Amino acid sequence: MIAYASRTGNVRYIVSQLQLPSVEIGEDTLIEEPFVLLTYTDGLGDVPPIVRRFMDKNGEFCRGVAVSGNRNFGHHNYGKAGDTLAAQWNIPLVRKIELRGFPSDYEVIRQFYQEQIKERRADQHEIVFAT
Ligand SMILES: Cc1cc2nc3c(=O)[nH]c(=O)nc-3n(C[C@H](O)[C@H](O)[C@H](O)COP(=O)(O)O)c2cc1C
Repeated sequence: MIAYASRTGNVRYIVSQLQLPSVEIGEDTLIEEPFVLLTYTDGLGDVPPIVRRFMDKNGEFCRGVAVSGNRNFGHHNYGKAGDTLAAQWNIPLVRKIELRGFPSDYEVIRQFYQEQIKERRADQHEIVFAT
């Protein structure tokens, strides 16, 4: 699963290009399966509050984060929400994407997803069916 937050549509566009199962984060979203988080960067390098609250409830299932940002906010703040979440939750920062990014960005996320979510789920099913 891809869980995402988008305020002005860039992350929503990125997710639409991935063609993977996805859910937009709302105040009560609960995901009880492994997911990759996609978020934008808020304030001056901040994690959007709705994402912070979502991760407080669901973070244990998060396998990686990709972030959209804008270099105009300065080198230090560019996509910093992704750095913060990766450090806080001890998960990989899969990709920093400027605004909507490019197909090469989507491919990196798709590749990570295949490795970390899809294949592991397949492994889990194998174990379930073998016992
Ligand atoms: C109020 C505001 C603050 C922002 N602060 C940052 C920032 O500190 N660092 C950054 O890289 N991008 C920042 N951005 C840019 C957004 O993260 C970027 O445009 C992103 O693509 C938005 O994704 P969305 O369209 O899915 O909401 C900010 C945008 C807004 C509107």
